[in-house]
Amino acid sequence: MIKPDAVQRNLAGEIICRVLRKGYKICAMKMLRIDHDLASEHYVEHSSKPFFGSLVSFVTSGPVIAIVLEGDGVIEGIRRLMGSTDPKKADPGTIRADLGIDMARNVVHGSDSTASAKREISLFFEKNEVIDFARCDEGWLYP
Ligand code: RTP
Ligand code: MG
Repeated sequence: MIKPDAVQRNLAGEIICRVLRKGYKICAMKMLRIDHDLASEHYVEHSSKPFFGSLVSFVTSGPVIAIVLEGDGVIEGIRRLMGSTDPKKADPGTIRADLGIDMARNVVHGSDSTASAKREISLFFEKNEVIDFARCDEGWLYP
């Protein structure tokens, strides 16, 4: 997910470009304004943390772009492309190091496991909104 800070700063193209250049496929993508309930559900694992309120406020503060990606080892790969949560500690060359400002304004979210990806995708997309490349013509198959 491209967070509101990145959308507001017109960084969406740069972020999507990095992801596509790496070879991942976009299976679904939409811009939306997350409401309080969806944000709370999305970040439910952090509901008891002290930063939960500010995290929900931030992620509902403006539009986000939710993206479903496909590719070999995509979850781990995207987390590596994103870099550490804190942009100040992220390795140079990562999205968060290069574009992020601080812990809140860290420009992107990425699912951290197959289970969380499945759960999060179902929060943002209907099944028929997600392209299944395996069912497209052979030229679309990965890799
Ligand atoms: P994300 O879920 O957004 O992909 O980020 P992440 O896995 O790298 O980090 P996570 O621990 O899941 O935290 C979710 C988001 O909460 C904010 N955060 N603030 N101590 C703090 O103030 C703090 N810790 C986390 C960050 O915006 C982080 O992306
Ligand atoms: Mg996380």
